[in-house]
Amino acid sequence: MDRTLVVIKPDGVGRRLVGDIISRFERRGFKIKAMRLFEFDSKLARDFYSPHIGKPFFPELENFITSGPVVAAVLEGNKAVDVVRSMIGDTKSFEAASGTIRGDYGLGYTDNVIHASDSTESYARESKILFPNL
Ligand code: CMP
Repeated sequence: MDRTLVVIKPDGVGRRLVGDIISRFERRGFKIKAMRLFEFDSKLARDFYSPHIGKPFFPELENFITSGPVVAAVLEGNKAVDVVRSMIGDTKSFEAASGTIRGDYGLGYTDNVIHASDSTESYARESKILFPNL
């Protein structure tokens, strides 16, 4: 069965959206294989978001992702990467379609409520960092 990883970002946790968001994935049929609440420090942020180091938006992204608690989860279900990407919507929340998580809960770009792996390769890399014992 396919798996993907999501991270509900500090804005999503801070706005008490964890239950609503996780419930959407459960109702769609995904099984939660692992879940944890924690805070990114700078080192972990640089490891997790390493493909973006050096890009102009990276400092803002690092600052934001380390600003408060996050909830990460591994979800299992058919075509997990693609289905979850379609459920979370466009990276720019202000362009995300209504009915998607970002389209329903956000307007930001850096503060876009949730991250999800964009490929099976990204899932493998990201899950090794956040769930090394899975
Ligand atoms: P995420 O899916 O977590 O992956 C990288 C994050 O960087 C992205 O969501 C946005 O929150 C943030 N970001 C900010 N500016 C940009 C940008 N110009 N391009 C891509 N991602 C950006």
